[in-house]
Amino acid sequence: MNLTGAEVVVTGASGFCGAAVARAAAAAGARVRCLGRRPGPVGRHVPWDATRDLPDLAGADLVVHLAAAVGDPVPGRAAERAYRAVNIDGTARLLDAAGSRPLVWVSSASVYRPGGAALVTEDHPVDGQLSAYGRTKAAGERLALAAGAVVLRPRAVYGPGDPHLLPRLLRARRAGWLPVPGPDVRLSLTAVENLVDAVLAAPGWPAGPYNVADARPYSRDAVLRGVLAATGAPARLAHLPVGLAGAAATAATTWSRLTRRAPVLTGYAVDQLARDMVLDISRARARGYRPRRTLADHLARLGGEQPGQAG
Ligand SMILES: NC(=O)c1ccc[n+]([C@@H]2O[C@H](COP(=O)([O-])OP(=O)(O)OC[C@H]3O[C@@H](n4cnc5c(N)ncnc54)[C@H](OP(=O)(O)O)[C@@H]3O)[C@@H](O)[C@H]2O)c1
Repeated sequence: MNLTGAEVVVTGASGFCGAAVARAAAAAGARVRCLGRRPGPVGRHVPWDATRDLPDLAGADLVVHLAAAVGDPVPGRAAERAYRAVNIDGTARLLDAAGSRPLVWVSSASVYRPGGAALVTEDHPVDGQLSAYGRTKAAGERLALAAGAVVLRPRAVYGPGDPHLLPRLLRARRAGWLPVPGPDVRLSLTAVENLVDAVLAAPGWPAGPYNVADARPYSRDAVLRGVLAATGAPARLAHLPVGLAGAAATAATTWSRLTRRAPVLTGYAVDQLARDMVLDISRARARGYRPRRTLADHLARLGGEQPGQAG
């Protein structure tokens, strides 16, 4: 789709990925309209609360939906309710308003059933999620797929301004040590620039789900060491047995329920770090997706050492 002069609506443009998408769409010549509670970095701001309002999509040539409740909240009914209100009910409102307009719905690899495949294709089962985030993203994406959207499933997006992964990593550091569950594993990660490329190309792809990640998976341990060193917070990795990490997550979650503060560790986080999780990106590649950025590029910008890539 040629974006020059096109009216592109971006939801979630005040957030990490949405801001990058909005900037890139504007740079490609689109007229950008940012729908959200706070303005995006470019374009026209139209107030929208996904939990309440029908969005104004009149005149849009393309809708890119990134607004979501994102995170790893204290498990329980309150989290399910809050995440549902944005990720499912907000999606339903967006789809109502979108009608037959081209729609790119940004999902997440968190929708996949944990475990059971060395290389995760788009046909991997979408159930059994371990967090309110994964469950509600999966339910929202079912609505989007039924409505004929192109659905992108990135995993662990990193880049300048990441409000989720890096801050959490830094919080988990203790006196120069970072506890990690089990031996090293291979993980897919997604540079925000690669996600943006996929989003802007996706309007030309057939409807359906597409994995989106960097070209090759990474060694978890090399990534953790590289990122911590690059941010000036080097740490040694303390490899804990997975069972012990799981027990610590249970204790941390119980503690967070009592204190109503975000848990330092959850079962979902342990699962994300303890298992190989490599996305097969051949479906997107077949449509021309060419991930150009790597974590090494990002770390080089930060002035750190380069992490090793795994096979
Ligand atoms: N970051 C990752 O590692 C990652 C990985 C896979 C998939 N994704 C997906 O990428 C998308 C963007 O994630 P992100 O990392 O950029 O998250 P983020 O920085 O937390 O941004 C979330 C965005 O959603 C908006 N939002 C939340 N509640 C809203 C509501 N009630 N009404 C309107 N807008 C609302 C926020 O806007 P305000 O708070 O300003 O209203 C913000 O712009 C999400 O769909 C997420 O599932 C992210």
